[in-house]
Amino acid sequence: MKFFIPHGMEMGVATASMQIEGGALDTNWHDWYRQGFIKDGTDPATGNDHWVKWRADTELMAQMGLQLYRFGIEWARILPRPGEVDEAAVARYRQELLLLREQNIRPLLTIHHFSNPMWFEELGGFEKRENLHYYLELVELAVRRFGDLCSDFITINEPNVYATHSFFFGAWPPGKKDLGATLAVMENLAYCHIKAYELIHRLRSEMGFRDTMVGCANHLRVFAPKNDRNPWHCLSAKLTPFLFQDALTQAMTLGVFPAPLRNFGKIPRGEYTDFIGLNYYTRSTVSGIGDGVRENSPRNDLDWEIYPQGIVECAEKLYRILPRPIWVTENGTCDNDDRFRCRYLYEHLQALSRSGLPFRRYYHWCFCDNLEWIEGNSAKFGLVQIDPDTRERTVKQAGHFYSEVIRNGGVTDEMYDKYVAGQEYDIR
Ligand code: BGC
Repeated sequence: MKFFIPHGMEMGVATASMQIEGGALDTNWHDWYRQGFIKDGTDPATGNDHWVKWRADTELMAQMGLQLYRFGIEWARILPRPGEVDEAAVARYRQELLLLREQNIRPLLTIHHFSNPMWFEELGGFEKRENLHYYLELVELAVRRFGDLCSDFITINEPNVYATHSFFFGAWPPGKKDLGATLAVMENLAYCHIKAYELIHRLRSEMGFRDTMVGCANHLRVFAPKNDRNPWHCLSAKLTPFLFQDALTQAMTLGVFPAPLRNFGKIPRGEYTDFIGLNYYTRSTVSGIGDGVRENSPRNDLDWEIYPQGIVECAEKLYRILPRPIWVTENGTCDNDDRFRCRYLYEHLQALSRSGLPFRRYYHWCFCDNLEWIEGNSAKFGLVQIDPDTRERTVKQAGHFYSEVIRNGGVTDEMYDKYVAGQEYDIR
């Protein structure tokens, strides 16, 4: 045996509604596409049809032996206008939750994953404090309509990535480059998370449930200096993660808002997560404020460094803030021709299995190839391939490998030889 996964750790996959559902909705991402910002021209409206093919997709997950499924609800779908609920969309999500339960796949529901209805965006979105009640109304709707079928919730996916890509780098809608707006969005999202945490617990307990689990999906990277003898590089390897992830994580987890974040809502110090949600992908190597990648390092097809031990380093960092069961809410890689996904999976699972930390769940990103935001469909993260013309689903080698890991509780020597041994990363 090469290694066993941690005792009792369950395994499954993650998706996001905007990335897999398709459908002609009025959202910030449909608008971004119309403005020509999706590099390969993928239209979110065509997507890959999960909204229609949800039944077959769920059955495929069950055939693959998956135990967990993290997925999102699309705000613009269930609330096409403020206060106006689309009951057919609600019913369709309920059917999906029911089928998951029937197939013994435990659902984890993401309430916000980067996409907003245009009506919310046009009101100023998460930049404006007076809009935050709209998000909390979405949370309330989600719990009232789905809370009998689902006990586990992610309030917000990667608030730091959303805030920086959309308001600092200007690469995502609404395309701003404004530090003040970035910080305001971070503060507002921390406020939203904490209010949502309390609301979900209160509502589900009024519904008679005691098993609620609420958290956020934190995107953390490892940061290293480009040259560790250069004091400026070393300073930026401390300052960048503080501004990008650490200050916000503290605020969301403990209600402690380190400067420059302000606690405008007078949130009391507390414990605002039931699990440590970690989305882990890569290490950044920096020489100033911003991003960078180490020279001569193993890279994926988006040029991100592959650094497996980072999954442990980031989990440890979160665990030190508040010790809770660790759920890897996303981990995966862009491998367009399936040359190294099995090795990536192997090395990340091996690292977390040897860490001794309480990893309890692992959600691979992604179930299937999908709309990778501005990269479009051409950046492939899936265990399942989707034919661009017919939308037919085919399980990739890595999907078969993953099923065997779940079945065997780890990786045997035979599995290693069959799936991993022949795979290598590109070094650039
Ligand atoms: C996001 C996903 C995204 C993935 C790969 C995460 O930042 O939550 O939506 O597809 O990383 O880039």
